[in-house]
Amino acid sequence: MAQKTFYITTALYYSNDNLHIGHAYEAVATDAMARYKRLRGYDVKFLTGMDEHGQKIEQAALAADRTPQQHVDYIADLTKSLMKTLDIDYDIFWRTTDVAHKAAVKKIFNQLYEQGDIYKGAYEGLYCMPCEAFYTQTQVKGGKCPVCERGVESIKEEAYFFKLSKYQDALITHIEANPEFIQPKSRANEMLNNFLRPGLEDLCVSRTSFKWGVPVDFDPDHVVYVWIDALSNYAVGLGYTGEDDADYKKYWPADVHIVGKDIVRFHTIIWPALLMALGQPLPKQVFGHGWLHIDGKKMGKSLGNAIDPNMLVGRYGVDAVRYFLMREVVFGQDGNFTNEALITRINADLANDLGNLLSRTVGMIDKYFGGKLPAVQSDTEFDESLRETAAMVAKKCEEAYDNMQFSDALNEIWNFVRRANKYIDEVMPWVLFKEGGKEDVLAGSLYMLAESLRIIAILIEPVMPNTPRHIYEQININDDAIKTWESAKKFGLLGREVDICKGDIVFPRIDLKKELEELANL
Ligand code: ME8
Ligand code: MG
Repeated sequence: MAQKTFYITTALYYSNDNLHIGHAYEAVATDAMARYKRLRGYDVKFLTGMDEHGQKIEQAALAADRTPQQHVDYIADLTKSLMKTLDIDYDIFWRTTDVAHKAAVKKIFNQLYEQGDIYKGAYEGLYCMPCEAFYTQTQVKGGKCPVCERGVESIKEEAYFFKLSKYQDALITHIEANPEFIQPKSRANEMLNNFLRPGLEDLCVSRTSFKWGVPVDFDPDHVVYVWIDALSNYAVGLGYTGEDDADYKKYWPADVHIVGKDIVRFHTIIWPALLMALGQPLPKQVFGHGWLHIDGKKMGKSLGNAIDPNMLVGRYGVDAVRYFLMREVVFGQDGNFTNEALITRINADLANDLGNLLSRTVGMIDKYFGGKLPAVQSDTEFDESLRETAAMVAKKCEEAYDNMQFSDALNEIWNFVRRANKYIDEVMPWVLFKEGGKEDVLAGSLYMLAESLRIIAILIEPVMPNTPRHIYEQININDDAIKTWESAKKFGLLGREVDICKGDIVFPRIDLKKELEELANL
């Protein structure tokens, strides 16, 4: 049987600024899902990249005293380096300034024009430059952009239009017939009620007021307005319209586009309408995640509160930062980032719960058995309950990951971690050791813990790609067959003679007060 494919994407990041923790959040979630699917045996393609055209980027380049190309090259390098720092294991880093991309955008625009889906008209409207979006009079209240609340400008120019209105009914039908298409479900209702049912207007898809973009092939005074340029990346990045479109044939349609709630509209209305016009299949799902706020406020460089993920990873390590992002916020809802919440989670969940489970287990095997468990065993009265929790955790975790409910998945795993720590308090191995003559019970109980850690290591891997390695090293697990996802569903696969290899503390405790002071003085 052919291996099942899974194609997942992030949004393309605007090249005007360095990425902040909100972007990192999206990239980590997408990466966690891609890693999970790989663990489940899928042939995964993961695309991310940069959205490099438009007036805003042209102006950012000017302000930084660079040419637009120099500027986007600079930001692309920074982004790639951040992706590395965050252990984002993408397959494709697509840039809209790639020669292949620009050629494809021209072809797509030409085709739509030739078949009558794009026509020339005049545009008169209200434009928000920071959002690169047009609004109608009714959407704009008090001269302010309905999304970012900054000022909009009145614009009139000759422009090309895409016949978006033509696809309105087909879009409504598709969204109603495919409840999985827009997730979470509330966002589907928002699209239907706020945009689709009131009626779609045709979409302005070219501009003449700036130059930094893909010129319209047959009318080079116009550049292709960013959304056709940017959205087409998901297909073009696989080779759509190109000479080699093998990957497009293999991986399209996308299984899921991961995007923030602010751009769900573009991905569930404009993008599918473009695909319908091009006669291409629609993505199976668009998942609109929530926004990450900083201390309850919107984040951004201009607001002066953007948090650099590089700094966080430098201080706490990549797995701790990824864990926090996926654990703290329900995927789909808005969340809040505070240093205090991050450090508190690191101390409680990582240093205390998981870190202690590992160091206690390894420490006791070291102390009571000189580092190697003998192959003797006898059950304690608490084994049954720990085994039951273990039997449930992989299943529940799987269900949560399948629905991209990362915080639920981690919550299930941590219930198991805490159950295992409680097992230590129940069994009290130190008492067994002191009493003597119960070597089989003592060895059996420590085996229970080592085996629990094996399962935990497997289940955390999508979110925490490095910690499993530390756990495997310390418990000395080398056999790949007992590191597979399926193997996490079976308790008892670890050999009885656990031969530990004591290592460093994986998650050191942080002095909250001192750390907050240091952060305040950065
Ligand atoms: O929108 N919290 O680019 P972008 C959570 N180029 N997610 C956030 C966030 C926050 N504070 N800030 C941004 C664009 N994001 C376009 C997309 S796709 C063909 C073109 C998310 O750099 C945002 O919601 O402004 C979006 O999904 C992604 O980061 C890129 O945002
Ligand atoms: Mg944005």
